[in-house]
Amino acid sequence: QTLFVVPAALAFASGLATTVTVTHLLKSGDGIVCMDDVYGGTNRYFRRIAAGLGVDVSFADCTKPELLKAALKPNTKLVWIETPTNPTMKVVDIKACSDLVHEHNKDIVVVVDNTFMSAYFQRPLALGADICMYSATKYMNGHSDVVMGMLSLNNEGLCERLRFLQNALGGVPSPFDCFLCNRGLKTLHLRMEQHFKNGMAAAKFLEADPRVERVIFPGNGIGFSHFAD
Ligand SMILES: Cc1ncc(COP(=O)(O)O)c(C=O)c1O
Repeated sequence: QTLFVVPAALAFASGLATTVTVTHLLKSGDGIVCMDDVYGGTNRYFRRIAAGLGVDVSFADCTKPELLKAALKPNTKLVWIETPTNPTMKVVDIKACSDLVHEHNKDIVVVVDNTFMSAYFQRPLALGADICMYSATKYMNGHSDVVMGMLSLNNEGLCERLRFLQNALGGVPSPFDCFLCNRGLKTLHLRMEQHFKNGMAAAKFLEADPRVERVIFPGNGIGFSHFAD
């Protein structure tokens, strides 16, 4: 008998292997609505691979939840949000989007790519998302010596299905990478606070320079004031 701990987490061979595995929850004819600005590899996979296999892929600017609502179709099975987005740092209201999607159809799986915020700064499951995914290659590992993906979720049935898909598709991480990533996670809280302070200092420095037209940094004025110096 399997001991099931909620919420559950799975580790994958890469962030993209995580995305591919999650997308295999769908079959031909099912639909994905994806934030209109996402990591280029996610966009490429949805448009050039998943769409070619019969998945109905569309994009919506989820910074305006009403546009996400308008994009939902009867065949929509997955909503893919990334926030802040790579590379233009758009910020999406995870709770507003998750709530409206689930009101439309509670069975639509809402995924949040939480790579840029990490588990330290943002908790998508607490905001109503069904799956929180990471490219652990970035902050979660934090030492630039691992390529890995992760996801967390609190739905037992979905977890069992993803475990099966991962086993069937093969996007598993190596034991040594798991060891290294586990090491990295132990310093996540220290690293993320310092990253934030460094980022804020760089943003303020650039903002003060009249030669700089625009600074794209979501840390200015969206609720991180307790970290400001
Ligand atoms: C936001 C985001 N999601 C997913 C990925 C893909 O992750 P990986 O490179 O680990 O496959 C990346 C990689 O740059 C990313 O920036």
